[in-house]
Amino acid sequence: MFGDDDFDDCPDRRGTGSEKWDRWAEHDLLPLWVADMDFRSPDVVLEAIRARVDHGVFGYTHEPPGFAPALADHLRSQHGWSIDPATVVATPGVVAGLAITARLLTAPDDEILTFTPIYPPFLSLPGLAGRRCVRVPLVSSASAWQIDWDALAASITPRTRLFWLCHPHNPTGTVFSRPDLIRLADLCEQHRITVVSDEIWADLVLDDTPGHVPFASLDHEAARRAITLLAPSKTWNLAGLGCAAAVVPDASQRTRWRPAGGGLVPMINPLGYAAAIAAWQHGDPWRRRLLAVLRRHHELIAATVAGIAGLSSIASQATYLAWIDCRGTDVADPVTACVQAGLGPSDGREFGAPGFIRLNLACPTARLDEALRRLQQAFAR
Ligand SMILES: Cc1ncc(COP(=O)(O)O)c(C=O)c1O
Repeated sequence: MFGDDDFDDCPDRRGTGSEKWDRWAEHDLLPLWVADMDFRSPDVVLEAIRARVDHGVFGYTHEPPGFAPALADHLRSQHGWSIDPATVVATPGVVAGLAITARLLTAPDDEILTFTPIYPPFLSLPGLAGRRCVRVPLVSSASAWQIDWDALAASITPRTRLFWLCHPHNPTGTVFSRPDLIRLADLCEQHRITVVSDEIWADLVLDDTPGHVPFASLDHEAARRAITLLAPSKTWNLAGLGCAAAVVPDASQRTRWRPAGGGLVPMINPLGYAAAIAAWQHGDPWRRRLLAVLRRHHELIAATVAGIAGLSSIASQATYLAWIDCRGTDVADPVTACVQAGLGPSDGREFGAPGFIRLNLACPTARLDEALRRLQQAFAR
């Protein structure tokens, strides 16, 4: 326990339609899979939602005047990145934003590059849009996941139009360094590839130094053309409110953004806007307390993994996710072994990496302790 009730004392989510908790609802199983947290959102956010509810009218809503300026202020103060609020386009989710970029910036059969392992929609969305996903595996050293520059260069073809960057990276928790981002920008500029950078995890970098460098903040031609996707949903636990943003520097792309959704992408609900504005404006003290909890939880997982023969994990630099390599064990199916021990992880196969599991450590410490006991039990053979 850390003596911080906001992170120790959480509501019971069973029976609330929670995707995370419903998946194995009929079993006594701790779900540490999908990336939302078991913590309540901060009071400053809840108060803003209540105030919007008190207004009482919930008609069709586009960006309220405070939305883009709140994001711009947040990006400047947290990441030293100055954007023009006029370049912000609201989108009901980062996944919807990625899907839109495929349709907006590529033609059928064009290729979209991405680093694997990767958050599963990066793998499925190109195909759903009639485009091709080209996977470039990251390589692991003892202490870091790194870009394989030769493999990346070899993957580029005349059909390559986009690079979908996930930065910080889900599932490995890698925060790409400024030199790596510049090298990526050079390569993309050379081949006229547009970078779309999903920075949904940017506010959950565990150490301030060197911190997160937004791709589009680089002083580089490729950065000036890049689209950045952002949301308050991971950091302040607002995924169910469906409110995200794209920073789209090109005016004509902004005009074509909504039509590229093909009529399938809804407007954002007013409560999502109210929550996002409050989180960006007032959520930082809570975020800092959250990070202290997450750092401790990462240490707990690392110590447990180090004690289990055949498991290994490279320390995450960001996120509340631990990416664990189980290929050194003699357990044929790590997910089944975990489920049998009462633990529900994400399956590495969905991220393009069989033999790995991903654990979500954003839950009370006591729950994590029990989950780690079950992890030991799963591999104690
Ligand atoms: C890298 C990444 N992008 C996007 C999302 C989901 O974003 P949204 O819920 O806004 O569609 C997630 C959720 O885990 C994620 O990890």
